[in-house]
Amino acid sequence: MRHRILLTAVLCLASVAPAAGQQARWWSPVVADSAMVVSAKTEATRVGVDILRRGGNAVDAAIAVHFALAVTLPYAGNIGGGGFMVVREADGEVHTYDYRERAPLAATEDMYLDAEGNPAEGRPSWYGWKAVGTPGSVAGMALAHERHGSLSWDELIAPAIRLAEEGFLVDAYFADLLLGDSEDIHRSPGAAAILYPGGDPPAVGDTLRQPALGRTLRLIADQGPAAFYEGEIADSIAGAMAVNGGLITKADLAAYEAKERPPVTFEYRGHRIHSMGPPSSGGLTMMWILKQLETFDLSSYPFHSAASVHRIVEAMRRAYGERNALLGDPDFADISPEVWEEGYGTALAASIDTLRATPSAEIRQELSALPTLTESTETTHFSIVAPDGSAVASTTTINGFFGSYMTVAGIFLNNEMDDATIKPGVPNAYGLVQGRANAIEPGKRPLSAMTPTIVEQDGRVKYVLGTPGGSTIITTVTQILVDAIDYGMTMAEANDARRIHHQHLPDTIRVEPFGLSQDTVDILTRMGHEVRFSNGYSGRAEVIEVDSRNGFLYGRSDLRGGGFADGF
Ligand code: DON
Repeated sequence: MRHRILLTAVLCLASVAPAAGQQARWWSPVVADSAMVVSAKTEATRVGVDILRRGGNAVDAAIAVHFALAVTLPYAGNIGGGGFMVVREADGEVHTYDYRERAPLAATEDMYLDAEGNPAEGRPSWYGWKAVGTPGSVAGMALAHERHGSLSWDELIAPAIRLAEEGFLVDAYFADLLLGDSEDIHRSPGAAAILYPGGDPPAVGDTLRQPALGRTLRLIADQGPAAFYEGEIADSIAGAMAVNGGLITKADLAAYEAKERPPVTFEYRGHRIHSMGPPSSGGLTMMWILKQLETFDLSSYPFHSAASVHRIVEAMRRAYGERNALLGDPDFADISPEVWEEGYGTALAASIDTLRATPSAEIRQELSALPTLTESTETTHFSIVAPDGSAVASTTTINGFFGSYMTVAGIFLNNEMDDATIKPGVPNAYGLVQGRANAIEPGKRPLSAMTPTIVEQDGRVKYVLGTPGGSTIITTVTQILVDAIDYGMTMAEANDARRIHHQHLPDTIRVEPFGLSQDTVDILTRMGHEVRFSNGYSGRAEVIEVDSRNGFLYGRSDLRGGGFADGF
């Protein structure tokens, strides 16, 4: 067995020596030589590492991390939501799993509109019982376990049960969130009972116990997914829905199915990228952006120079136009097979004017509508590489912070229905203006942006990554890859680097604070772009890089969030 090391100090190792002419790299990823877990929460990362130490593979660790996040990150981790998992087995085979929520069977296309056909007062697609889609996470974990698990199901849930029953420490981020969100939490008696057990928001350092969730997790550990979809938990969910005007019934829960989907796999400058296909838009939209960028010698323009940003933004604009107009749940929407071809992305670059911005109104004109943007979000991503070489990238969500805020049996229920097209042209919570392909139908999955991704070079895993961030998920993952592949950054540097975002509508380049110099903004403005600095969401990526020379693993949890990387 190889000597085990773990370094968290600032590194400038010979193994990652910068190429001639580049500056020394003052970055400090966590380094290990066998296995790595990076998640949004310390306790969940530790659970994953422990599973790997016990001989579990990356999927075993992913299931345990998923359930641990449902307890320790109750505003995003979940059993009341859904997600996607990209798995690369030790032998190199890639599988992608879809456990996205489904619209209730009683859902209708105009269910969130008032009598005049306008979005109803109070945004019922966002808060309350009607916002909830039939949860997929438990079925997704069960499917991944059935296909790849090597440790027992109850062994993988046991750490989450312990965290729910014994509690976990409230950190500063969570304490702030509990205070800041108190109005919405107080409006939901179930949420208040879980989050404010003593009546007041817990303070930093308090221990939060969730006995009801612990009991629910015990049922799932003992009885398997049937407890959730047919048994006692299904009874509780359907009962609460019936009493409170929600739509999910026992028939919805019994009919839920997690699915294996074909991965989106494509080449980008000598790298093979595997990501999630519909009902996530992540993989295809990223492919369309990158295939456009491949038509340019991008690295000949300095990082974040106007010439580079312009090309990236024009590629984002066109790819999001296609996304917003064409994509939806593949079981319902008629998605043409040609959009899966690399050449479809490449062709989008033909209309890029390298000297001036193309107004979004000229692209996918049917989508032009009032641009608005509100940000209120939560999702979480984790990346895992196991000692046997298997890897998992998984992104999971209940959509907004604490989802719909409605709870049953200790579970926060999602508000994923808001990701669907409430009405063509009406922006969702992330400002996405989407079309009929994503309209609501009974049993249909709302289109997602989640982009869990595994990248190979020369047949070996090189990067594992993903992020939350609503509509910015795709541009965040894509930029991290551009920064690494085109600009030669390490994954840690690329994760730290400032980000820009464009999503077709609103027709604005959204830039993180300090993300572009004023000179660059001036040039972009002269080219016809509108540039807006925003403190809004730009993701919190969880990334792993594998060093091809020695197999070392470098893990970095985004500096923007309170996550944790650990390995051995
Ligand atoms: O599936 C989606 O695209 C969204 N529901 C993700 C939401 C999200 O990332 C919010 N987190 N910050």
